[in-house]
Amino acid sequence: MINLFPLFFLLFLSSITIVFSDLEADRSALLRLRGAVRGRTLLWNTTSSNPCSWKGVKCNNLTNQSNRVIELRLPGDGLIGQLPLNSIGNLTQLRILSLRGNFLSGPIPSELGSCTELRDLHLQGNRFSGKIPETLFTLKNLVRLNLAGNNFFGGISSAFNNLTKLKILYLENNQFNGSLPNLSSLTELRKFNVSFNALMGSIPPRLDTFSSQSYLGTSLCGGPLVSCPSNGNKLSGGAIAGIIVGSVIGLLLILVIMFILYRNYRSRKLLQHIERSPIPPSPVKPSENGFWSPMPIITVTEEQKFSNSFASEERVGKVVVQGGSDGLVLFGKDVEMFSLQNLLRSSAEVLGKGTVGTTYKAYLENGAEVIVKRLKNVCLSEKEFRGEIENLGSFIHENLVPLRGYFYGTEEKLLIFEPMPGSLSILLHGHNRRSLSWEIRCKIALGAAYGIQYLHSISPDTTHGNIKSSNILLTEYYDACPSEFGLTRLVSNITSPNLNGYRAPEVTDSRNISKKADVYSFGVLLLEILTGKEPDSVLIEDGIDLPSWVQSVVQEKWTIEVFDPELINFDNFEEQMVQLLNLAISCTVQHPDRRPSMVEITRRIKRICSL
Ligand SMILES: *[C@@H]1O[C@H](CO)[C@@H](O)[C@H](O)[C@H]1NC(C)=O
Ligand SMILES: *[C@@H]1O[C@H](CO)[C@@H](O)[C@H](O)[C@H]1NC(C)=O
Ligand SMILES: *[C@@H]1O[C@H](CO)[C@@H](O)[C@H](O)[C@H]1NC(C)=O
Ligand SMILES: *[C@@H]1O[C@H](CO)[C@@H](O)[C@H](O)[C@H]1NC(C)=O
Ligand SMILES: *[C@@H]1O[C@H](CO)[C@@H](O)[C@H](O)[C@H]1NC(C)=O
Ligand SMILES: *[C@@H]1O[C@H](CO)[C@@H](O)[C@H](O)[C@H]1NC(C)=O
Ligand SMILES: *[C@@H]1O[C@H](CO)[C@@H](O)[C@H](O)[C@H]1NC(C)=O
Ligand SMILES: *[C@@H]1O[C@H](CO)[C@@H](O)[C@H](O)[C@H]1NC(C)=O
Repeated sequence: MINLFPLFFLLFLSSITIVFSDLEADRSALLRLRGAVRGRTLLWNTTSSNPCSWKGVKCNNLTNQSNRVIELRLPGDGLIGQLPLNSIGNLTQLRILSLRGNFLSGPIPSELGSCTELRDLHLQGNRFSGKIPETLFTLKNLVRLNLAGNNFFGGISSAFNNLTKLKILYLENNQFNGSLPNLSSLTELRKFNVSFNALMGSIPPRLDTFSSQSYLGTSLCGGPLVSCPSNGNKLSGGAIAGIIVGSVIGLLLILVIMFILYRNYRSRKLLQHIERSPIPPSPVKPSENGFWSPMPIITVTEEQKFSNSFASEERVGKVVVQGGSDGLVLFGKDVEMFSLQNLLRSSAEVLGKGTVGTTYKAYLENGAEVIVKRLKNVCLSEKEFRGEIENLGSFIHENLVPLRGYFYGTEEKLLIFEPMPGSLSILLHGHNRRSLSWEIRCKIALGAAYGIQYLHSISPDTTHGNIKSSNILLTEYYDACPSEFGLTRLVSNITSPNLNGYRAPEVTDSRNISKKADVYSFGVLLLEILTGKEPDSVLIEDGIDLPSWVQSVVQEKWTIEVFDPELINFDNFEEQMVQLLNLAISCTVQHPDRRPSMVEITRRIKRICSL
């Protein structure tokens, strides 16, 4: 009897089980968790076969086939007990796990190592204890790890060096003992706290860049804390004098050596940089902070302030191409000519590694300076590349960083830009944020908007494609000029969705950024200007992006909470700030069609800031 089912029906049945088996397994894992923890029970509808609608559970629903649980957030849910086996570790697609602020105890189960996709792990404020399991160090995608406020003990393992993507590591208020290991592989680390642990010994070199606030209540020494005691007997006066003289001579010697090294470093030729450092295939550094020195603080006088209004007559300039015999192509009729040989022989320094390639500052022999961008993973044919670049070279506007030329070789693809004195990213996230008054922030927002509006006016599919604060360069009068427009179209798809806090949710291919996706990124940029928070380094709790964080604060508390505390003169401009915040929120709505156009945005910034 059973054999009488038609074959297609059996296949259909089995395909259904395949489709739902993974999600079904995730559902059982969640139920095992629910069954093991006491306290306030998780109010999940367990009769429902789909766990994706349960509170705190999020699935990826791109296609039905790969439907899996990717986020589990149960903060402050009163959970008591130990994490059971075959629960969390079975959610192998999990990207975000937040169990902070509960009463969970016992060890972190070592099966956590199966969650290889994990980016964010928030276990702070529980009663977990024991040693950190070795398997945790196999989570190579981990960006944020917060284990603060538990009872973990034992040494801080040097295996943390395996978590090379880590940006945030919070271990404070535990019972870690021993010394701090050399965490020199954690090159992305931005936030670090080991306060209130039984740590001792010296702070290793890489970690001494964090302030003493990261090391409260420990017996550590060196770095930002008092220097470590030297272990020696009492010395006679003569010996001390000898040591002082010796140290002074030593110091002078070191200074001389450093000076020589510095000169050598400065005079390393661009060619050597290029020859010695093959472009690595993929690593994508999300933020390129920290290149130029902070800009001098200047006061913007009335005349200078808005001398830079939008010159709508100056449309697309006629591109004058001067091709050198050695393949270097320069744009514009006024530019001083130099050859590829001149360029490659110039001294150069690395400014940063970005999403599309490495940027150098080159000092030509005639005293001129240019910015050279070395593209990686170019995915266009020579003809297409030349066409695209010559098109980009024709975009001339006072709120854009002009492209001065390019070189297309089989090995190397170089772009040449005008140098600029500073970037918004460095000003906002460097040491000088206080110098960014409300008026200057308004001016920067408007300048950047003009540049992007101009790009959008050129043709239906001309977009910037990579709007972020490190790509908003500034003149010494704070005229904002977006740079690197149109470059993501030249290189293969850049997949760093969780690191790029500026990317609109609907974007799947970085080569194809719509105008509305630009508007989203611009909205995030406005939020960054208003809040002073970095969208890239996602310093915000639980992997929530900047727009969601702002939304949640505005809904739960009062709007004033979101603004940058460094913004002085708060009272005079509160109204303007709230209006600009509303504009930024409307730019970052999920639905692309509901976002305003750049024309509308510039009009509104002008009105809000009365510029
Ligand atoms: C729980 O889920 C079942 C099946 O989806 C549904 O019939 C029922 O109404 C749900 N109960 C509640 C309280 O939502
Ligand atoms: C994912 O599915 C849920 C229902 O399970 C739905 O409410 C939500 O809009 C979907 N999200 C996307 C991005 O499609
Ligand atoms: C996905 O599932 C929904 C119902 O759950 C169905 O309507 C839709 O056709 C499915 N899509 C694909 C691509 O199978
Ligand atoms: C998931 O749970 C089952 C028990 O139901 C177990 O046999 C299996 O090994 C687990 N899988 C993973 C990847 O942990
Ligand atoms: C850390 O990385 C090293 C080298 O990549 C490897 O040998 C070691 O097993 C890793 N440790 C853990 C705990 O993953
Ligand atoms: C750290 O504490 C553990 C007990 O919790 C002890 O066995 C170990 O010796 C201590 N290590 C150091 C370096 O003090
Ligand atoms: C730290 O580790 C790096 C690489 O593992 C090494 O180059 C460096 O010398 C180490 N520093 C110290 C102080 O051990
Ligand atoms: C580190 O944690 C301690 C204790 O919670 C806190 O007082 C301190 O401000 C934190 N430091 C940083 C740099 O966040």
